[in-house]
Amino acid sequence: MAEVPAALGLAPEEVHRVLEAASLAPSVHNAQPWLFRVLPDRIELHPDSRRRLPATDPDDRELRLSCGAALFNLRLALQGAGVRPLVSMVPGQGAPGALAIVRRGGTAEPDDEQRALLKAVPRRRTNRKPFHEAPVDPRQRHELVRAAELEHSWLHVIASPKDRAQLKKFVQQAHEIQLRDENVQAELASFTGHRPHATDGIPTDSAGVRPELQDEWVFRNFQGPERKPGKDYESDPLVVVLCSFYDGPLGELQAGQAMQRVLLAATARGLSASFLSQPVEVRSVREQLRSSLGDMLVPQTVLRLGYSTPVPPTPRRPVSELLLESNDCRS
Ligand SMILES: Cc1cc2nc3c(=O)[nH]c(=O)nc-3n(C[C@H](O)[C@H](O)[C@H](O)COP(=O)(O)O)c2cc1C
Repeated sequence: MAEVPAALGLAPEEVHRVLEAASLAPSVHNAQPWLFRVLPDRIELHPDSRRRLPATDPDDRELRLSCGAALFNLRLALQGAGVRPLVSMVPGQGAPGALAIVRRGGTAEPDDEQRALLKAVPRRRTNRKPFHEAPVDPRQRHELVRAAELEHSWLHVIASPKDRAQLKKFVQQAHEIQLRDENVQAELASFTGHRPHATDGIPTDSAGVRPELQDEWVFRNFQGPERKPGKDYESDPLVVVLCSFYDGPLGELQAGQAMQRVLLAATARGLSASFLSQPVEVRSVREQLRSSLGDMLVPQTVLRLGYSTPVPPTPRRPVSELLLESNDCRS
């Protein structure tokens, strides 16, 4: 089994803890498409090209969002260990194929907010259960908007009945297109259902109840249990579109970090979240969504937020499987 080396002035066990925190990030179908190269003066984040989802995510856009989320956790965990992370994103020639390089930018104690977010890392989960009817407190909503801004991204709150109706239509349209795409369905099937001892994918316990096409907001079908009669979804969740300010890998990595900051800020405030990614995954619908936002913003992911009851954690690959050796060409 690969040993985690020392790096950035941290002992091997501390580096192990930092990478473990990074690996708790969310990812599409829990594919965990990230690898880390650990060198004495840097930790590089690489995409794991063997974990791509070519039908669902042909341009690797969501892969980079997921890696951005892992990068945010990595930054937080380093801050928790007293290291100020100095991040270069999409570094190019300095580290071919890397999405980011993190170096030691000095020493600093974490502030209260960083501590609260770090505490939320192992508690954050995608919650596909029905939420309570209570609306999200406007102050909390404002803090989520601020969380995205701090990471150079934008949280567009779907507020007016007209915008809600339009987004629901986009979700439905995209969902139906994906249902007809057998490659998208095959990718979903390969990460769901009964997979004992799997270290990736979505176990039945986390799948949420089985969605129905007439639902207000149509969720992906992760092969969860049939819905009990009378058990329905909340009527008015907070729905937000997380956007970057530009297209391409840098905007996507920023949006991934913003997504994770929003999710952790939500967790720290007792909120639950789940995703409605269909309209950003189907290109034709994504273009319509983009123009409905006024063309300045690039929609990256759609989140539903509210109050709910806890859900179990999903599995993760062990840190030993996330290490990229210098002669390894998985990235
Ligand atoms: C970019 C992105 C898109 C996602 N899209 C969906 C989605 O459309 N529907 C859904 O139920 N979960 C979605 N997820 C959630 C993942 O399935 C989830 O993160 C993964 O299973 C790990 O579980 P956890 O978030 O509870 O740790 C998405 C996650 C990411 C990062």
